[in-house]
This record gives sequence, C-alpha cells and structure tokens, in this order.
Amino acid sequence: MRNRKIILGLLLAVSCILGAQNKKSMPIYKDAKRSVEERVNDLVSQMTVEEKVLQLNQYTLGRNDNANNMADPVNDIPPGIGSLIYFSSNPELRNRVQKRAMKETRLGIPVIFGYDVIHGYRTVYPISLAQACSWNTDLVEKACAVAAQEARMSGVDWTFSPMIDVARDPRWGRVAEGYGEDPYTNAVFGVASVKGYQGNDLSNPQNVAACLKHYIGYGASEAGRDYVYTEISQQTLWDTYMHPYEEGVKAGAATLMSSFNDISGTPGSANHYTLTEILKERWGHDGFVVSDWGSIEQLRPQGVAKDKKEAALKAFNAGVEMDMMNRSYDNHLAELVKEGKVSEEKLNDAVKRVLRIKFRLGLFDKPYTPNGAEKDRFLLPKSLEIAEKLAEESIVLLKNDNKTLPLTNISKIAVVGPMAKSKWHLLGSWRAQGQSDDAISLFEGLENEFKNKAQLSYASGCDFEGDDKSGFEEAKSIAKNADAIILCLGEKAQWSGENASRSTITLPQIQEELVAELKKLGKPVILLLSSGRPLELNRLDKLSNAMLQIWQPGIAGANPIAGIVSGRINPSGKLSITFPYSTGQIPIYYNHRQSARPHQGKYQDIPSTPLYEFAHGLSYTSYEYGELQPSALKIKKGNKLSVSIAVTNTGNMDGLETVHWFISDPVSTISRPVKELKHFEKQMIEKGQTKTFTFNIDPIRDLGFVNGKGEKFLEAGEYYIIVKDKKIKVEVQD
Ligand code: BGC
Repeated sequence: MRNRKIILGLLLAVSCILGAQNKKSMPIYKDAKRSVEERVNDLVSQMTVEEKVLQLNQYTLGRNDNANNMADPVNDIPPGIGSLIYFSSNPELRNRVQKRAMKETRLGIPVIFGYDVIHGYRTVYPISLAQACSWNTDLVEKACAVAAQEARMSGVDWTFSPMIDVARDPRWGRVAEGYGEDPYTNAVFGVASVKGYQGNDLSNPQNVAACLKHYIGYGASEAGRDYVYTEISQQTLWDTYMHPYEEGVKAGAATLMSSFNDISGTPGSANHYTLTEILKERWGHDGFVVSDWGSIEQLRPQGVAKDKKEAALKAFNAGVEMDMMNRSYDNHLAELVKEGKVSEEKLNDAVKRVLRIKFRLGLFDKPYTPNGAEKDRFLLPKSLEIAEKLAEESIVLLKNDNKTLPLTNISKIAVVGPMAKSKWHLLGSWRAQGQSDDAISLFEGLENEFKNKAQLSYASGCDFEGDDKSGFEEAKSIAKNADAIILCLGEKAQWSGENASRSTITLPQIQEELVAELKKLGKPVILLLSSGRPLELNRLDKLSNAMLQIWQPGIAGANPIAGIVSGRINPSGKLSITFPYSTGQIPIYYNHRQSARPHQGKYQDIPSTPLYEFAHGLSYTSYEYGELQPSALKIKKGNKLSVSIAVTNTGNMDGLETVHWFISDPVSTISRPVKELKHFEKQMIEKGQTKTFTFNIDPIRDLGFVNGKGEKFLEAGEYYIIVKDKKIKVEVQD
C-alpha cells in the first residue's frame, strides 16, 4: 500500500514537471489563448531576415485562369512562402501545400491563400456595377457573404475585392467591377461588401478577408485605356477618390491593393503619401497592402525605377507590404536590408501586418480547410435565391413607351439576338469558379416564364460582331408571325473587365442593323441589353419601344428578367452610372463641377445632356412625391437636421422605390460638384400606399466638403437638399 502511494506520488511529480516543461516549450505565438499582438510580436522576434522576407511574397498555385496575367507559375514554391493565389476550387491542393508550410519550416507559419472573388465564387451574381443599381446594401452584403462561404470552404482565405474605384469613363473595361461614378455609392457598397466578406470574425470558417482595390485613382485612366497615367490633383484625389477607401478602412477591411496607375508622377505602388502617410499614419490601418499583379516591377516601364531592385526599394519604403508576382521582394529585399536601404524596423512592421491578418483569420490554429463535398458548399438554395433577388433589383428599365412592357395577353413572342441563348456572356468578367452550365439563358428564362401563356420562337439573327447578315431573314420570318419581338443584344463578356477597353461604347453595327430591320415590321420591339458598361443607345432608343438594361446578371438573372418582361416582377433598379448620349460626351457624370457659362459651351452636333441620367430607372407603377419637409430651415453647425418626403404609389402595382438624396452648395471657398449624393433609401410601397423617406443630416458629414489635404470643413451659408425636382434651401450658421 505504502509502495503504491510512493509510486503514485512519483508519477504525479513527473507529470507535473513534464507539463510545466511543455508549457514552457509551447511558444507564445502558438498559444491560441494569447492576444493577436502578443503572438505576432513573439513570432517576429524569432524570425530571421530571410524568413521575414518570404512572408512578404505572393506566388500562384493551380492553373492560372487569368488571361491578363500569364507570368510563369513558380514551380518551386518554398514552404515558407507568405501567400499564394489559389486557382483551384478543391481544398486538397491547398491542404497539401499548407502542410509543407506547417511541417517543413522551422516556425510553422501558415500560408494565406487569396483569389479574385469579385461577384461570386461559384454562385455568380450580377457584376458590381449592376449590384449598385439595386441600391440594396443588405442584399449586396448577403451576396458577398455567400461568396465568402463558398470561397473559404474551398480553400480561399482572402478575396481581392471589393473594387471601389470611382469610374467615370465607360470605355474603361473595369467600370464593370466597381460601383459606378459616385464616391458615396462606392463607399456605401464597399462597406456592405466588406461586412459581407468578413462578417464579425475573420476566423469563422465561412468568412474571408477583404481587399480594397485599387488604391488609388485607377479609375481615372486616361481616355479609358487600362494601366495608363492618371492626372489627379490633390483636390480631386480627396473629394472624388479617397472617400470610399476611408470608409472601407473604417469598416475594418483587412487589406488593400496598391494600384497600377501613375498618379500625377508617383505611381500608386510607390506612393508614400497615400500608402503610408494617409493609410497607416492618418487612418491607422493595421493590416497590409498587397501590390497589384506586377505593379512593383512595372515601376520600371513607368519610369520611376531603373531596375527591379530599385522598384522593390521604392514600393517597400512607400508602404507596399506584399509583392504579388513581381519576384522583387524575394530577390532583393534581404539585400536591401543588408545595405541599410530598408530598415529592419520597417521590415518587422511589414511582417507584423501580414501575420496579424493570418492570426485574425485563425490560420495558425486551423491551417487546413475541411474537404467537404461540392454540393455542401456551392449553389445552395439560399445562395441561388440571393443571386436571383440581386439580379432582379439590379435590372434597370430604361424606357417603356406606351407601356410596351409588361407583355400581357400576348400569344406569340419572337426571341432574337446573339445573347438569347448565350450563358457564358451573362456571367461577365472575373467569374471566379463560375460555370456557364450553372446559368439559365435568357431564352430558357423566357420559356419558363411564358409556359402555357405564349408561344416562343427563336432566331439568333446575327453574331455579336462582324458583318454576316445571313441570319436576318430567319429572324424576320419568325418576327413577322409574332405579336412582339424581344431582342437579346449586348457585349461579349470579354469586352469588359481588365485590359478590355473599347474606343466606343456602341454596340457593333451588325446588332443595330438587326434591330433596324426588325423595327420595319411594325411590331413592338423590346431590347434586353447585357453589358459590362453603359452603352451608347441613342439610335437604339429610336428603334425600340422598351429597353431593359440587364447588365451581366450572373447565373440566376434570366428568371427575374423574364419575370419583369411578363409583369410578375415590377422593375426597381436605378442607374449607378450615367448613360451618355454618345461616346463623344465622355467623360460625363452627374456630379461634375459648375461651368463658368452654364447656358453656353454646348456641343454643336449632339445634345449636351446624357441619354439616361444617374439614378434613372422606370417602374410599372407610378409614384407621386410630396413636398420636402425639413425639421428646421436654419441650423447651427453643430446641430442636426432631418428632411422627409412622402411618396405615394399611385399606380396599380406594388413597387420598390429608391429615393436619392442629393445636396448642393452653390457657393463655397472650393468650388463643389453641382449635386452630391449623400443618402438613399429603398422601401416597398404597396399600391395606394404612402411611405415616408427621411434623410437625417449631420451637417459636417453631409454638407461639409474636403480640401486638398483631406481636411473636412463646413462653411456657414446656404445649402440645398434635393430629391428629383424638389429642392429646399437650408441655412447653416456659425
Ligand atoms: C488585377 C487585380 C487582381 C489581380 C490578381 C490584376 O491584374 O488588376 O484586380 O486582383 O490581377 O488577379
């Protein structure tokens, strides 16, 4: 008995000693109970310069599906690499590579896997430009949450999204990827998408880290050409481009991507002012900046670095922490540290930023992605429902003469045009893992919708481009026998997106000619227009009775589009970008500065106003707007003010209506845009019902302006609050 007690005592003592030793040997950075900062500091203190430098590089993994970025894949991926762009949708490859990082390196630092999840991962929803036309931030947040869930469960921790570049030149192909021409709109939808991607907790296995891009001014590309110089004054930088980024940073976006463009002499990827002074020092961002693909080595052709080493030095010291496929940090950073051109302190700060996000994502504690079945991650009923709803609210009824739409009491419909049976082009650019087989074509959508109601016939009529008119006759013959003609036209998916500028925003002549031919038959002509940019529609406007801008609506868009055509759904989308009268008007956007002679300076050959204005969009019902009701007409700078308006649905159909609230400040020390959007609200108004919409004004936030140093100011004076053609004046006093 006594012996047993002694043995037990000894065993206890030994296990206590072992336990204590274990605790001692578990490094702080591996202890999930420690704070992120403790873990980051501990880890960095143990790393060599070489290990640190490797953390700051991103290579690719898997079959690169980005035609614009075809640099050689790096075949020999070092286990200690910081990040990989993950082109596979199967977590297995990720896990294999991650295992090397965890097991074959001295410290076991996990890789962060990034990917372009722009408008959905496998469940592809409408392009961002279209999403903004929904004016429904909840829906956009939900769609981004779906994208995050599908991506994270497939091995992606980090998306290179949202793009919040204010874009005012529709010739630029990337106009499709952002939320349009307005700074406030880009900010609001950027924030919604950051929330959707990141949720409340990055370590949740259904959330991903977001990346605000392209910081900054990329949307100002001259003449809509991609990758070129941008001339941006300090004033414009602040009053047009910065706001979405500042809001995105405040919303907690984990990362940013530095832009390709040269900003008035200093490229976005070598810009100490924007990357360090503003982003890190003024806004206090504690995550990291990744370069755009190759944007560091491109400092050479841009004329600010003589070789890759100098490019690395400039980008790093400006504040780019991670090198995306330049091979400049891995090749030169350690040497630059040795030469004293890059300080160790700066190197540590950069590494800490990257590690911080890895810790927040929970990658140290759960480095691997569970390998679940595709059916449990992709195209879930809830995800498809969101994709369908978002498409529904993104579609804009541009014109509807004599109530051509909806098509009711009609027995024969001719469906014509190269877009009618295409699935591929409805997905747009940057479709991630989207597959055209998942999509419903416009023809299929219409067929389902009109089953037992109308007979559909089909002819393509022509191709998207070229001059082959041999299909016109067939199109005419089916159209002759129909009560209405639906023409499905538009742009191929590859005509927008990166490196996809167009010199004109017209549709190719062959498509316009097809419409002209069919118009001669005297039947109602309805255009369904799919594109990644605003189109020049002035000729088609005259040739058609109704036009529906369907954008690139994603895999589930065809059902709601058909629902709008039949009248099952009341359209509610409104434009997030101006539709010019013609290409020659570009740049044209609603929030331009005032002219010295507003009554003169018009074009002699074309109208000077756009064909369809920002926020334009028709409905099947009618709304009557009451008068603007302010809580006060005079306020002190520090006081709040609210303005309301009653909107009545006076038509015969329930409808979703968005009220856009603009302000204007006609006299200011720094001249301001003629109108600035500051708030919007969308509500369901049943037929016969009246709803009140309210704008709660915080004067400095909503009436104030910003100067070229980014300082916000509010001047005493008169301001206007504007809703459609209603306008009231309020006075702000010191
Ligand atoms: C694009 C980025 C994208 C990156 C990675 C670049 O060419 O400009 O928007 O995130 O490639 O694919």
